[in-house]
Amino acid sequence: MWWLKDVWVIDPSQKLSAPRDVLVQGGQVLEISSSMTEEEVLEKAQGESIDAVNGQGKFLFPGLIDVHTHLREPGQEDKEDILSGSRAAVRGGFTTILAMANTQPVIDNRALVEFVRRQGERAGYAHVLPIGTVTKGMQGAELVEMADMKEGGAAAFSDDGKNIQNGEVMRLALEYAKLTGLLIISHCEDKYLAGEGQMRRGVASARMGLKGIPASAESVIVARDLLLAEETEGKLHLAHISTVESVDLIRRAKKRGVNVTAEVNPHHLIFCDEVLGITDTVLKVNPPLGSRADREALIEGLRDGTLDMIATDHAPHTQAEKARPFAEAPFGIASLETALSAVWQHLVVPGIISMDRVVEAWSFSPAQRFGLQGGSLVPGSVADMVLFDPEFSEVIEPATLVSKARNTPFLHKTFQGFPVMVWVEGRLVQRDRKVL
Ligand code: DOR
Ligand code: ZN
Repeated sequence: MWWLKDVWVIDPSQKLSAPRDVLVQGGQVLEISSSMTEEEVLEKAQGESIDAVNGQGKFLFPGLIDVHTHLREPGQEDKEDILSGSRAAVRGGFTTILAMANTQPVIDNRALVEFVRRQGERAGYAHVLPIGTVTKGMQGAELVEMADMKEGGAAAFSDDGKNIQNGEVMRLALEYAKLTGLLIISHCEDKYLAGEGQMRRGVASARMGLKGIPASAESVIVARDLLLAEETEGKLHLAHISTVESVDLIRRAKKRGVNVTAEVNPHHLIFCDEVLGITDTVLKVNPPLGSRADREALIEGLRDGTLDMIATDHAPHTQAEKARPFAEAPFGIASLETALSAVWQHLVVPGIISMDRVVEAWSFSPAQRFGLQGGSLVPGSVADMVLFDPEFSEVIEPATLVSKARNTPFLHKTFQGFPVMVWVEGRLVQRDRKVL
């Protein structure tokens, strides 16, 4: 049995943010109370050994749930695989990750869904839930067998990495997904507007002499998908929202009652395109980093709930690929191991976002919206949990990363504030930043 003493518990599911003692037994949260005596705990343990943890000065919250990770297995295991990715997840404070479907081959049938799910179970770290594609071969034309894939364990459907350009296919996808109860996750990008763009179109792209992707490449598809969700009453989730206009469209759609949620990535909350230099391929990401006004709108959207969730879009690539010239390097940032600390350092410590909101947006809201286990520490809940130490400091070094990927903008930077103990179903899987 685990006894976490005097720890600051953040659990938005029960509107709790206060010092408490927490008991965990048999993989579940047993009790949360203001104080417990040794005798009381001994009695509850009924002879079982007790692991007591002094939680003073630390936070305990439900394990983070990341609805957007690229694990690259099958097919691109030089970038990442399910074992390395799910180890990176628990190192970063994630107890559940949703694995995107743009692998090689893409996850467009039940057998492949089952493969990803089983590989996740075999790894035995974070819960790995497969996302299936929306269309066969991710070609944007013919819908997959959604009901069959759900039975195989698909948690949602997405052609992420690519947009479904054909509006009628997207409309049908929303309509058919209703029969499964699962969400369609949309990667909003008009491929004609985006063209061969490498970064956001604006002053910075002009300065760098690179082709730009206009903000409208995202926002016109956000508008389309919101209208289609409204018409079909399908369940829509918008991935990696990055522009002022998108936030505004989502805010208005929610007021009308459209069944939509949206996520924002840490890198869009932290960086703007003006920081980019021609060698910074590590910050080349899709959708691209936007302007200061975009960043402010995203922060405001996260604060007021227009943006429901934070998600990493963990996109591992090899160093060789990222060493190419800017225009030839792949899009993506690897972030599972650093995202929470980066958000803590850049947004929570300066008082821009509260830690309570971060936990809500990265654990409770994803669990609610995607109908997943976790996201709560109410007694009886599964003990997927994180102990976060605001004092623990670490230099982000290649040698300590357990992900195969090194494409993080935080390499060689020092962060203070890390998850230092992580439990999956009551089993300790990370301690002092070491994956067990
Ligand atoms: O930056 C990105 N990388 N954005 C995407 O939409 C896809 C992802 C990837 O698969 O590398
Ligand atoms: Zn995407």
